[in-house]
Amino acid sequence: MSRLTIYQETGEIEAEFQDYENIRQRLLEAGIVLERWSTEKALAENASPDEVLAAYDSFIQRVKKERGYVTVDVVSLNPQSPNIPELRAKFLDEHTHSEDEVRFFVDGTGMFYIHKNSRVYMILCEKGDFINLPAGTKHWFDMGPRPFFKAIRLFNNPEGWVAHYTGDKIADRFPKYEN
Ligand SMILES: [Fe+2]
Repeated sequence: MSRLTIYQETGEIEAEFQDYENIRQRLLEAGIVLERWSTEKALAENASPDEVLAAYDSFIQRVKKERGYVTVDVVSLNPQSPNIPELRAKFLDEHTHSEDEVRFFVDGTGMFYIHKNSRVYMILCEKGDFINLPAGTKHWFDMGPRPFFKAIRLFNNPEGWVAHYTGDKIADRFPKYEN
């Protein structure tokens, strides 16, 4: 079940939503597109990135064509994956990208935090969620201490993932994802 909590910058909760339509609407106010996509392909719990790419190949080709993405990769993590603390830390500080951040969760969950309109939108993404954070959106991401997710990352720029850290420690004032 996707879940959205909207905080004031001070950390005070302003609103919480669990129904998909309200979540979608409130995220749109922050410029974030959330869509629910089909995840009918069977995948092993520990499926590798290549296995995920192979399972979703025809779908990926279609989306690339329709939406102009040029490169695609997959992050597939489970609690037994190596270097979890380092990987988790890499995404935990507020940053921006010079291109859209686009993720399609084909399995598991992860928490995005979007800093916009003097608020923080904490959105728990789950299997089936497609999310698009426009270029320049201040955000961070928490996979939690025992991560379990498979996310297809779609890029409209061949350089792929580059984070520009804002240096703002705002993430420290908000709850971590303790999955
Ligand atoms: Fe990011």
